[in-house]
Amino acid sequence: MTDDLPNLQWFPGHMKKTERLIQENLKLVDLVIEIVDARIPYSSRNPMFNEMFAEKTRLTVFTKPDLANPKETERWLEYFRADINPAVAVDAAHGTGIKNLIALAKNLTQEKTHKLVKHGAKPRAARAMVVGIPNVGKSSLINKLAGVNHTKTENRPGVTRAKQWIKIDDGLQLLDTPGILYPKFEDQEVAVKLAWTYAISDEIYDIEPIVCKLLETLAEKNPAGLRERFKLTEPLSNDGHELLSVIGKKRGCIRSGGVLDVDRAAKMILTEFREGKIGRITLDELN
Ligand code: G4P
Repeated sequence: MTDDLPNLQWFPGHMKKTERLIQENLKLVDLVIEIVDARIPYSSRNPMFNEMFAEKTRLTVFTKPDLANPKETERWLEYFRADINPAVAVDAAHGTGIKNLIALAKNLTQEKTHKLVKHGAKPRAARAMVVGIPNVGKSSLINKLAGVNHTKTENRPGVTRAKQWIKIDDGLQLLDTPGILYPKFEDQEVAVKLAWTYAISDEIYDIEPIVCKLLETLAEKNPAGLRERFKLTEPLSNDGHELLSVIGKKRGCIRSGGVLDVDRAAKMILTEFREGKIGRITLDELN
């Protein structure tokens, strides 16, 4: 088994700044929409979330449900709804679930906007912002929500851009820029899942041990998917290095002299996993 995983640490310098920006924007919104990756609903949830948004109405969107095990997604959604806050799954790449999300967002904010009017304020649409860790689908979701109503904003250097609100419909507006939160690093198991799903950039770690660990996990959790994708007929090894070698050679990732091109094989496997080609799999387990 792979026991040579690198120690993944990643604290980007700009995080304090983005946190400040989120705090500023928070004052303007009635609803915070936090995005998590349906494959890792626990590992992709920012640890600051409860504290940062304690005063706000909150809603969690599970993106990439098309890449996750549908039964597991249902179980995770139930768990969030019972223990955390309302939650809904949306395929942000294709738009499935968008209508549900809009209905839920309006439902959750209705009471507050009605109350404001009762206290003498002018009626206005509820305002929401999207937050989440990198690469989880924030921009895709904003674009899908924006649909045809989205107006492109100016992006000239030196010009401070005013806050842009996207009109979703008469009852709901969305801030056009998402809040980027850093991923959690409370343990290496979480960090490795963030690397597999690309929430952590490939540039900051050695890809080989990470992919070996992925192959071991797939061999355990989804052996049929692994076999089918890579046409593996022999009994599956539980050693990631061995699996990497067999799969790499099968796919022709060979250097001159017949040596395995480890980097090419590892990248190919990671790409196919991220595209869902090795099957729909949920990596966080709910007990
Ligand atoms: P971010 O703003 O949170 O950083 O994430 P972004 O929307 O850029 O999405 C990151 C990648 O995830 C994109 O793929 C996007 O298409 C994909 N994605 C987002 N939501 C979903 C989803 O629900 N299902 C699936 N299957 N994919 C999703 P990319 O390859 O980086 O870019 P692109 O070429 O697809 O645009």
